[in-house]
Amino acid sequence: MVNFKWSSLALLALRAATVFAADDVDADFGSSPAAQPDLKADIETTWPDADIFGVKIVNGRVAKAVIEITNHEDSPIDVSFVGGMLKTTQTLPEDAPASAAILRNLTAVRYDVSIPAGEKGEVPFQFVLDMMPQDVIVELVAIISNQAANQVFQVQAHSGPASIVEPPTSLLDPQM
Ligand SMILES: *[C@@H]1O[C@H](CO)[C@@H](O)[C@H](O)[C@H]1NC(C)=O
Repeated sequence: MVNFKWSSLALLALRAATVFAADDVDADFGSSPAAQPDLKADIETTWPDADIFGVKIVNGRVAKAVIEITNHEDSPIDVSFVGGMLKTTQTLPEDAPASAAILRNLTAVRYDVSIPAGEKGEVPFQFVLDMMPQDVIVELVAIISNQAANQVFQVQAHSGPASIVEPPTSLLDPQM
């Protein structure tokens, strides 16, 4: 686990991208920031402990997500970080800053996972919360690079609802 904030992580990724661009003799610094080409990959996040009622995050227990990435690039891709945030399900006033929707930032986790071209890789992402029970939106973001193409991507790995709940107190509770 690393302890810096997700914002500095995004910044790091950006710097990394800039360094890559500076290495590239064909880089055109005069133009406005060009739209990054999309990463050719399928990303699907599953929650092994989810049930028919959806994703439940039990206070004090490890919440587990598994991010599956299928690499459709012609070269290997590397997963270097996954982080995320919990957002409110409530509609905020239009003039509220985007950060107002964030209830909690999840600690970013560093990885060194390389996925060969055409293959599928799995990255587990886990976290523990202790929050007021409520419904939230969980967003996970991965930093993935394609070294061969000098590209760094920040991609959304997940965005979906979850319920934060207290752990069951009864010993007879079937979940214990
Ligand atoms: C989460 O991180 C963002 C970006 O750094 C920041 O603006 C926001 O205040 C943080 N929110 C919480 C609840 O920590």
